[in-house]
Formats: sequence, C-alpha cells, structure tokens
Amino acid sequence: MSEAPRIPAKGWSKDAVLAALERFKQDDLPWREARTWAYVYDPGPEAEDVIKSAFTAFLTENALDPTVFPSTLALENELVAMAAAHLEGDAQVVGNFTSGGTESILLAVKTARDRARALRPEIREPEIVLPATAHAAFHKACHYLDVKPVIAAIDPRTFKADAGAMRAAITPNTILLVGSAVSYAHGVVDPIEEIGALALEKDLLLHVDGCMGGFLLPYFRRCGAPVPRFAFDVPGVTSISMDFHKYAFAAKGASVILHRSKELRRYQIYACASWTGYTVINPTVQSTKSGGPLAAAWAALHFIGDDGYLKVARTVLEMTRRIADHVDAHPDLRLLGRLEMNLVAFTSDALSVFHVIDEMKQRGWYLQPQLAFGDSKENVHLSINPASVRWVDALLRDLDACVERAKGMPSGALAAKIRAAFGEMDASGLGAEKVAGLLQMAGVQGSALPGRMAEINEVLNALPAPLREKLLVEYLNELFRQPI
Ligand SMILES: Cc1ncc(COP(=O)(O)O)c(C=O)c1O
Repeated sequence: MSEAPRIPAKGWSKDAVLAALERFKQDDLPWREARTWAYVYDPGPEAEDVIKSAFTAFLTENALDPTVFPSTLALENELVAMAAAHLEGDAQVVGNFTSGGTESILLAVKTARDRARALRPEIREPEIVLPATAHAAFHKACHYLDVKPVIAAIDPRTFKADAGAMRAAITPNTILLVGSAVSYAHGVVDPIEEIGALALEKDLLLHVDGCMGGFLLPYFRRCGAPVPRFAFDVPGVTSISMDFHKYAFAAKGASVILHRSKELRRYQIYACASWTGYTVINPTVQSTKSGGPLAAAWAALHFIGDDGYLKVARTVLEMTRRIADHVDAHPDLRLLGRLEMNLVAFTSDALSVFHVIDEMKQRGWYLQPQLAFGDSKENVHLSINPASVRWVDALLRDLDACVERAKGMPSGALAAKIRAAFGEMDASGLGAEKVAGLLQMAGVQGSALPGRMAEINEVLNALPAPLREKLLVEYLNELFRQPI
C-alpha cells in the first residue's frame, strides 16, 4: 500500500520533481498526437514553445498592483486594444483580461446586475434572458450573483436563438439579453442584429458570448464564409467576451471582457478599503494574478500573427467542411445545425452515439459526448484543430467503422429503466442511497469510471437536468478526495 502524500521531509532534486510530475500525466489523453477533438487548442510545437517561454518569463509578476508592475498593465491594455479592434470596437471600448470565458461572463452579468441596482433600484429580483443554447457559464453566474436565468426557446432547426422567444421572455425585471457567436454545442451564430434591435427597443444591455467564436469568426469572414455581424458594429451590443485560450491558442487562463464604454465598465470594478490591509481595487474576480497568462496571450498573438491566424482559419474551415459533408452524406448520422465555426455536432436516429464515442476511443480518438437537452438530441461534438489536419481521412474511416459496430450494440433499455424509476422524481428526493443506486446502474464503482462510458452517458441522458446535476455533484464530491 502506498503512503498518504505528505510534504517531503527534505526537498527533492529538480530532476526528481519533474520526473514525478511527468508520471502524473500517464493516464491523460495523449493530446500531442492530435487525435483529441475537445479541450485542447493546439497551435503546434513551435508556437507552443514561444508561449511557454513567455508564460514562465512573467510567472512571478503580479498584476494585482499595476503601479508596481506596469508591465502587466501595458500588456493588458495592448491585448484589450487588439481585441477591441478585432471586434469592430471604436476608441471608446474598454475591457479587462480575465482567467477564462467563465470569468468574463461572470463579470458581464455582475456589470448588468450592479448597473441595475444603481439605475433601476425598483428591480428586486433581476433576470437575464438566455437562449437555451447559451453557455452554462451564464447559469453559473446567475447562481453566484443571485440573478434569475430566464430561458428562451431556440429555433429547433437551426439551433440559433429566437429573437421572438426572447422578446416574450422579457419582463419588468429583465436587465440583460444574451446571444452567442458562436454557441458551443452547435457552433452557430445567434441573430445578434435582431437581438441588438430588441435590446435597443427595450433599453436593455446585450452581452455577446464570443468566447468560442469571437476570435476566429472575423478570419472565417475574410476567407469568404458568410459570417453574420455579431460584434460592436451591431447597434445594441454592449459587451462581448472573447477567449484567447481557445482559438487564439494562448495558454489557458486567458480571456477578455469588453464593454462599449467606460460608463458601463464602471459596474464591473470592485474596490474595498474597509479592512486593515492594503487597498483592494480589482477590475476582475482574481486579485493576485500571475503575469504568465497575459504574457503568453500577447506572445501567441505576436508569434502567430494575423497571417498565421488567417492560415489557421483556412485550414480548419476546409477540415470542418470535409467532416460535415461526410456526416451529412452518412445514412445513419445527422448534423445538428449548419456550422458557422470549426465545431461539428452530429447525432443518430438509428443507433447510440455514446457507443460510437466509446468505439472511437478504443481506436485512439477522443470525441466529446453532449447530452440531450430541449430540442437538441444527444450528440457527438468535435472541436477542430489545425494540428489534426493529417488525421481527417483516418478519423472519417474509423467513424464509419464505429457506426457499423455501434449498430449491433444494445441501447435504450437502460434509459427506459432509469426513466421509469427516476424520471418523475424531484432532485431533492434523491438521497445518498438512490444516488449510489444510480451510479451502480451506470457501472460506477466508488469514484472509478469504467472503460466504456456509454452506460453512464445513457443514464445521465435519461434523467431530467436537475437530477443529472445532483448526480454529478455527488460524483464529483467523491472524486476530489485525499488519495490513500
Ligand atoms: C461559447 C462559450 N462560452 C463560454 C465558455 C466558457 O469558457 P471557459 O471554459 O474558458 O470558462 C465556453 C467554453 O467552451 C464557450 O464555448
């Protein structure tokens, strides 16, 4: 039995430390092979090297106090200026560097909430209108900030926001509308011009979630793709989030939140002088903040450059079209949405896509499962990286083979059993015993996941969202524990 981890009595050598760290990675997905179609945004080894050097060069600089580290302020202001110009902003646009899309979105919701508190104090229970496809980060922001998410139905054919449904969802308590460019699940751009007009008519703020699409969409347009307007050139758009750590290929921990004006951004900033220590004045959630992600993002933009990103856009656009056309022509697969980004989501009416994912995994591919929600059937999701270009033919060959294999595999029976036993249950009625029973039915022992995930995905897919959430919380609570 191995010993419980403790701080070693004596420090290790550098080699011993780094070798031990390397061993932690042994079960990770081998993303450098470029057969992982999620989670990783890989610019290739040359850019990776530059980005890593930049990160370590600024690792210790602390953006907490820009008067002490003006380098971090200068880097942040330059990144914001580049982002604003990229998204059609004028000189009035301001913004801040954040740790990721979720933080940028959290700050957009906080800005709207605090502005409403100042200007519309009659609103006691603020609401934001979210298309059903808006990222979970908005729900998380609502949860943290005590704002109510009001979900508006989407167009079930295009998976885009429906401005009419959003209009119907507006109440006297509404403080913010949201649109995506693009949505993660289906990779489509919401009708931002229509939603912008609605925001102006109703005198509401409008946040565009460009975390995933904001960076590459302008390049796709320059490649000739018909990208609808979604940025500050659309009247009514008041803030935009855009991640550098996705398709700008920066190191993780890099996003930006932009506001149309300083008047709006004021509500994002937090100051505290009511304690005995140094004065806290933070534009973002983090206080102590490494300069590493800032420098790495700046390095990515400068090393890859406009011409480099245009080349990336051309490559991934071509790859995406090939994959989408193949799926479209496949008799057993069905694309969800007409893609406007290098993301592909497809489902099947003939077999379980969860088995396809498991079969693909056995052949060395990682494809992401997405559960059914509303009008969106359970599906397979691919984020397409330029580093994977050499794999497209092999991927499609294996996909065809795995679809054939999945056809012979059982599906549906477990889901029916779960639905019968738990479908009508309230999440609050799901005690520890029932959770354990569900996990067992899905093949989960303790916190260890089985090799095949189809059963787990089928169980989750069969449950209503509140029960899914409860189950996942219990599972995660089990997962993060001291190793024995
Ligand atoms: C559209 C969209 N918004 C927000 C996010 C959240 O970003 P992060 O994971 O960086 O917090 C994502 C992540 O994939 C996304 O695709």
